[in-house]
Amino acid sequence: ELSPIDKAKYAAARKSVDFVENGMKLGLGTGSTAAWMVRCLAERIRNEGLKVTGVATSSRTADLARELGVPIVGMDDVKWLDLTIDGADEFDPNLNLIKGGGAALLQEKIVATASDRMIVIADAAKEVAQLGAFPLPVEVVPFGWRTTMALIEETLYSLDVLNREVALRMDESRPLKTDEGNFILDLNLRRIGNPRQLALVLNQIPGVVENGLFIDICDIVVIGNGDGRVTVRD
Ligand code: A5P
Repeated sequence: ELSPIDKAKYAAARKSVDFVENGMKLGLGTGSTAAWMVRCLAERIRNEGLKVTGVATSSRTADLARELGVPIVGMDDVKWLDLTIDGADEFDPNLNLIKGGGAALLQEKIVATASDRMIVIADAAKEVAQLGAFPLPVEVVPFGWRTTMALIEETLYSLDVLNREVALRMDESRPLKTDEGNFILDLNLRRIGNPRQLALVLNQIPGVVENGLFIDICDIVVIGNGDGRVTVRD
């Protein structure tokens, strides 16, 4: 028996694979909700003989997909994709997102941007009026990360961001390393007044590889509820 939160994630994931058509090239997201989607997709492949090609956004997702018989190729084998289905940490009324709670934001953003359509699957608790309660993940290169962190703090100050707690994400006693060998800084800002502007200025700082704000990338959000109902927002 699933918990209400898992029921919600499963319901959203189950609905999202209805959007998958034969022959599609798919971006496969990362996280617990995306893992449900990979399982639902594998079921359609088994039961209906659905033919798809997947690009995984993390080594975790690639491992799960292969284990379940979902064909996986490299991003450069396909270049463009028909559809990406991924989770999110927050989404707002404009369908802008915070992602990267699972540290896979860089590959997730490349894959989602290269897709004709992006569908986000989420439980209802991830819907917010304004982004920022979830700390914003920013991927930085390890070289000079303290300098990069100071530059980020300076930038936040110049943008009049009031809450500016920045923390290096740890994996037990060491800095967490992403699939690309980088570090993650989590920016606890509480509220992000202008996500579009913040996304642009963060990426201009030397040492910043990418940030977890997804602006104008998501087309549809499938929201799952604890009782198994889903709502589609587009
Ligand atoms: C991974 O880097 C994130 O962007 C995930 O998509 C996000 O953290 C959602 O994960 P859950 O589905 O586990 O909440």
